[in-house]
Amino acid sequence: MSDLYSDFNYPGSELHSQRAREKAGRTSLSKAEPIVKASDIAYILFNKTDLRLQKAFLVDFGFQIAQETPDALYMRGTGALPYFYVAHKNAKLNGFFGAGYSVNSEAELHRVSEICAQPISAIDGPGGGQRVRLHDPDGFIVDLVWGRELVDELPQRQLPAVNTPSEKVRVNTGIRTKTAPSPVHRLGHYVLSVSNFEESIQWYMRHLGIIPTDVQCLEDGTPALAFNRLDKGATPADHHTVVLVQNAAAGYMHSAYETLDIDSVGQGQQYLKLNGWNHFWGIGRHILGSQVFDYWLDPSGDELEHYADGDVFDAEFETRYHPLDMGSLWAWGDDVPPAMRPRFSLKRMIAAVRAIKTGRIERKTLGMLKKAMELPARPWF
Ligand SMILES: [Fe+2]
Repeated sequence: MSDLYSDFNYPGSELHSQRAREKAGRTSLSKAEPIVKASDIAYILFNKTDLRLQKAFLVDFGFQIAQETPDALYMRGTGALPYFYVAHKNAKLNGFFGAGYSVNSEAELHRVSEICAQPISAIDGPGGGQRVRLHDPDGFIVDLVWGRELVDELPQRQLPAVNTPSEKVRVNTGIRTKTAPSPVHRLGHYVLSVSNFEESIQWYMRHLGIIPTDVQCLEDGTPALAFNRLDKGATPADHHTVVLVQNAAAGYMHSAYETLDIDSVGQGQQYLKLNGWNHFWGIGRHILGSQVFDYWLDPSGDELEHYADGDVFDAEFETRYHPLDMGSLWAWGDDVPPAMRPRFSLKRMIAAVRAIKTGRIERKTLGMLKKAMELPARPWF
C-alpha cells in the first residue's frame, strides 16, 4: 500500500479481521483489453413520471435547462457539454436506465460499431451527435458517443481567498455565499449495484477502457466494489467516473454532480432545505476520492450528490485494494442515514434468493457481503 493510504483508517476500521486485511489485494482484477478508451462521461438517462416536478427539483439542485419538450427534459451545467442529464417522460416508470460516454474520434465510434455489431444512430437532443448503443451485463444502456456540439461555458463566481493560521490573504472582506442553487458544473460519476461483479467489471473495462482506482474486497479477498476512472493517459481523470458494487440485484445507487467549492456544497444545502426537498446524507468528506459531498433525494427517491474538491489520477497510478465496509465511505461528517444501514427487507430477501437460484451470485459471496456491510460503520452505531 502506498503512502497515499498509509493513513487509510477511520473510526471503526480497526474492526476488520486480520484475515480481511491480509487477503485484500491477493486476488487482483485481471485487466481486459479495451475496445476503446472513453474520454468523458457524456450523459445519464432516467425515466420520470412527472417531468414538471423533476424540473423543479433539478433547477433547485443547480442544473440549467438545455431543452424541454413534452417528452423529455435535457439539463446542462455551467460546463461545455450541451446537456448531461436526461429525464424521459414515462407514464409508469421512474428511475435510471443508462449512461453515455464520449469517445475520442469518429473512427473509434466505427470501431465499437463493428466489433460489437451495433449500428451507429443519431442522438436526439441539443448538440446532436452519433452513438452506438450497448447494454451492460445487467441490461443497462451504455452509449458510446461522438460528435456532440459543445456550448459556451457559463460564468462562475470568483473563488474566495483562504486564510490559514500562517497566512492571512483575505483582508477587510468576508465570505458571503448567497443562498442559491449550487452551480452544478458537470456530471462527475454514478454508482451501480451489479448482480455479478466480475462479469460487470470485465465488461466495463473492455467496452470503456476504465481503470479501477480503488477496489474493496470481501473477507476472502474477492473484489466486490470498484471505483473506476477513465484512462486519459497523462491527463488526470476523476478518481471515479463509474462505481460498480456487488449486490443481490442490479440497480442505480446515485449520481454525482461537481460544483465549485465547499461553500457551493453548503450553499446548495441551504437552498434545497429552504425549498422543502428531501435531504439524504451530508455534508461530509469521502475517503476514497476525497470529495466533500452532500446527498439529496429527487421527487421519485433517486439519490443525487453535490460534490467538490475530488481527487484526480493519471493512467499510471496503480490500483489499490482494501477491505470492504461501509465505514470507509467517509472521513468526517454526518453519520450515514438509517436508510443506508444494513436492514432486512422481504424485497432484498427475494432478490437474494433469485440471484442464487439464477447463478448470478454464490450463497457464500452473499454471506460475506452481508458480513462486510454489517460491520458497524462507526463504533457509536
Ligand atoms: Fe458519489
